[in-house]
Amino acid sequence: MEFPKELITFLRAVSSLAVLTGAGVSAESGLATFRDAQTGLWARFRPEELATPKAFARQPKLVWDWYAMRRAQALAAKPNPAHWALAEMERHVPDFTLITQNVDGLHQAAGSRNVVPLHGNIRRVRCAQCGFYPPSWPEDSEQVPRCSQCNGLLRPDVVWFGESLPSWALRRAIQASERAQAFLIVGTSALVQPAASLWKFCAQQGGTVIEVNLERTILSDKVDYGLYGPAGRVLPALVEAVWGVT
Ligand code: OAD
Repeated sequence: MEFPKELITFLRAVSSLAVLTGAGVSAESGLATFRDAQTGLWARFRPEELATPKAFARQPKLVWDWYAMRRAQALAAKPNPAHWALAEMERHVPDFTLITQNVDGLHQAAGSRNVVPLHGNIRRVRCAQCGFYPPSWPEDSEQVPRCSQCNGLLRPDVVWFGESLPSWALRRAIQASERAQAFLIVGTSALVQPAASLWKFCAQQGGTVIEVNLERTILSDKVDYGLYGPAGRVLPALVEAVWGVT
């Protein structure tokens, strides 16, 4: 793959980099994205019936089972070359933050260390009532499992529509974006806030914004560089071109 020469020279000298990833990064691991026509989760399921506090209050078992299915898929999935390339990038940039909207845990599985999970972690559950994190739970019981501490219902440790992001995660994401000389946006449709606006904190400080996506998005006209193709091809090629490793 060919990249603009000045982009390669610039990235080689960068000492602080923030990355925002979305479902597109895990697509090549076999996990469905949300908004892609036909294959996207929100093309097949209704978010308001599965991913809101109201839905859980109304039909807790339906919501639990849907997340249990996605948890099993996430646990069975393996990181792909896009995840590996981001983990490699971290080894070359002193101040590197990987902000992700993904809940599948594949960045951590690939060896990324400074990960900010903005939308939570599907591999964990917590008590909907007292916030306790049980170390284990029955995955396929007839009822939604209950908390050993307060008997409240257990729920996936993810952010639902209408809920706020964990404030510590959002704070770390904003601080990293403000510090970053470059902001890399990978595999997200950039339709969900506040994640979709984080790049602005970097741009306001004069940073360079780069998008990697299968296709153009609503951000494409605003970014400094757009690199279009599968993240599992573009990112390893970029890492090789900038740091000379694959
Ligand atoms: P979307 O499904 O909205 O967007 C996925 C993006 O990835 C699209 O822009 C695709 O073009 C792109 N894409 C697909 N395959 C790709 C590949 N192989 N390489 C590169 N790009 C690829 O997913 P998100 O933007 O992550 O929130 O969605 C954001 C949030 O909306 C999710 O975190 C979730 C959802 O509702 C919550 O659940 C809170």
